[in-house]
Amino acid sequence: MRIGIIGSGNIGATAARLLAGAGHEVAIANSRGPETLGDVAADTGARPATIEAAARHGEVVLVAIPLHAIGSLPAAAFADKVVIDANNYYPGRDGAIERLDADAATSSELLAEHLAGARVVKAFNTMNFRPLGTEGRPEAPREERLALLVAGDDEAAKRTVAGLIEDTGFAPVDTGGLAEGGRRQQPGAPLYGATVTAPEAERALAGA
Ligand SMILES: NC(=O)c1ccc[n+]([C@@H]2O[C@H](COP(=O)([O-])OP(=O)(O)OC[C@H]3O[C@@H](n4cnc5c(N)ncnc54)[C@H](OP(=O)(O)O)[C@@H]3O)[C@@H](O)[C@H]2O)c1
Repeated sequence: MRIGIIGSGNIGATAARLLAGAGHEVAIANSRGPETLGDVAADTGARPATIEAAARHGEVVLVAIPLHAIGSLPAAAFADKVVIDANNYYPGRDGAIERLDADAATSSELLAEHLAGARVVKAFNTMNFRPLGTEGRPEAPREERLALLVAGDDEAAKRTVAGLIEDTGFAPVDTGGLAEGGRRQQPGAPLYGATVTAPEAERALAGA
């Protein structure tokens, strides 16, 4: 599959390495331009691109940038794409965002509003980049794999993202839509940052 990645830091580079390693055709972008991405390309197997080109390249586009920067993304390049929202809201880094502080929206809903027409799925946002980079086990059965949580309102888009998660050796666990599932995946939620197996995550979500 063709995958665009916006952000080449901890999460963007880690996801690029995993997805390129699983055989996908990955283009990656950062804020400074493709000429700064030589080391990342060599390390991950992803092709350097501009933000616009990486977005247009992807059938799926993963966004892993500071949340305060999402308003700068060129929305037209993301139209109709499956967009993976790996971002989180940290007021200390992102500045105060009133609707999030009031719990009137989730950060994924803000991204979906900006990227009108994109099919936003929240995923790759709850696990620290270090275990994400090392703990995938494509050879293991589902119940032994670590969970990666998935939220979204578009079921087909969510299935596409779940397939990518399986490719990287993790187990997708559905938390619901962007509103309620997004809240189960945001900083402060019980499963945020947890490295747990899929059955453990499902038990936690069921309140067991
Ligand atoms: N770190 C984790 O373990 C982790 C886990 C899950 C989710 N997250 C979330 O994932 C997001 C990225 O975190 P990170 O740790 O990967 O951050 P990071 O290492 O600081 O990398 C951020 C990347 O975003 C790029 N960027 C910044 N502004 C941009 C813009 N306007 N347009 C395009 N790219 C832009 C930066 O470009 P330059 O390289 O040019 O500066 C950099 O490549 C955050 O929202 C974070 O909360 C992080």
